Amino acid sequence: MNERFPPGVDMRTPSVARMYDYFLGGKDNFAVDRESAGVLLERIPEIITLSLGNRAFLTRAVDHVAQQGVVQYLDLGAGLPTVENTHNVAQRAGRDVRVVYVDNDPVVLVHGRALLTDRVGTAFVLSDIRDVDGILASAEVRALIDLDLPVCLMLVSILHCLPDSDRPFDVVRETLERLPSGSYLIYSHLVSDDSGTATWLTEQMQGFGTPWGRVRSPREAAAAFDGLVPVSAWPDGREEGPRVVDCASWRHPDRSPVERPTDEKTTLWELSGVAVKP
Ligand SMILES: C[S@@+](CC[C@H](N)C(=O)[O-])C[C@H]1O[C@@H](n2cnc3c(N)ncnc32)[C@H](O)[C@@H]1O
Repeated sequence: MNERFPPGVDMRTPSVARMYDYFLGGKDNFAVDRESAGVLLERIPEIITLSLGNRAFLTRAVDHVAQQGVVQYLDLGAGLPTVENTHNVAQRAGRDVRVVYVDNDPVVLVHGRALLTDRVGTAFVLSDIRDVDGILASAEVRALIDLDLPVCLMLVSILHCLPDSDRPFDVVRETLERLPSGSYLIYSHLVSDDSGTATWLTEQMQGFGTPWGRVRSPREAAAAFDGLVPVSAWPDGREEGPRVVDCASWRHPDRSPVERPTDEKTTLWELSGVAVKP
């Protein structure tokens, strides 16, 4: 990574954004991120596939929502720019797309401002997602997002960064309360059905000193969909099977939607789905 970095960046503590960038094969990470990522990969090498699968889910999900005619996106916990960012995908639908990216990592701010806001209709806000009022009142959101029209709220692979004491699911509810009917939620959350894996990963992240919540159970993570109507997880939209599924199987052209990875040995995955506010 270019070693120019903004004040306030702690190069001795790994950051979730930079570790995730490393898992995706990116270059915007420091030695401390790669070392910590290596500790996780030694026990759970599937994290690479899981991260790539999560990013591919984001692409398919934004594409789906854009096809429904939604042109406004609020991407919370957006992460470092990568190959297919929200505006790149949504703008393929060919309409007047507007995207506000939000993240609390100062490195994401620098790269995000440079690369995510390279065209009219995109902006970046440095903020904690818990500050719902502050984000919605920001100059960037007021300039680009009409809160009387449907908005696609994106909380992709971020809520596990928030501990229970931060009431992560209240963030979802409070943000959606401010958006009109017909708005969408694109969501994924790191989950496990093996308490040993979940506890180990959470303890490692806490040991690194990185702000972190916890790996939750699929049932806990599904709370984000309370009061919403999840859309079909099949690419042809058929009305059968689970709708809140392993991200690798959501509307995948060659796979059936499954609630957990079919390989029993895989105990960590991203629970995911797309839902509409009635
Ligand atoms: C695993 S990355 C996910 C990036 C992207 N959403 C994706 O799924 O490809 C999680 C991101 O959430 C950000 N993040 C974590 N806690 C946050 C908070 N409280 N407020 C804002 N951003 C946060 C991190 O900086 C990181 O960029």
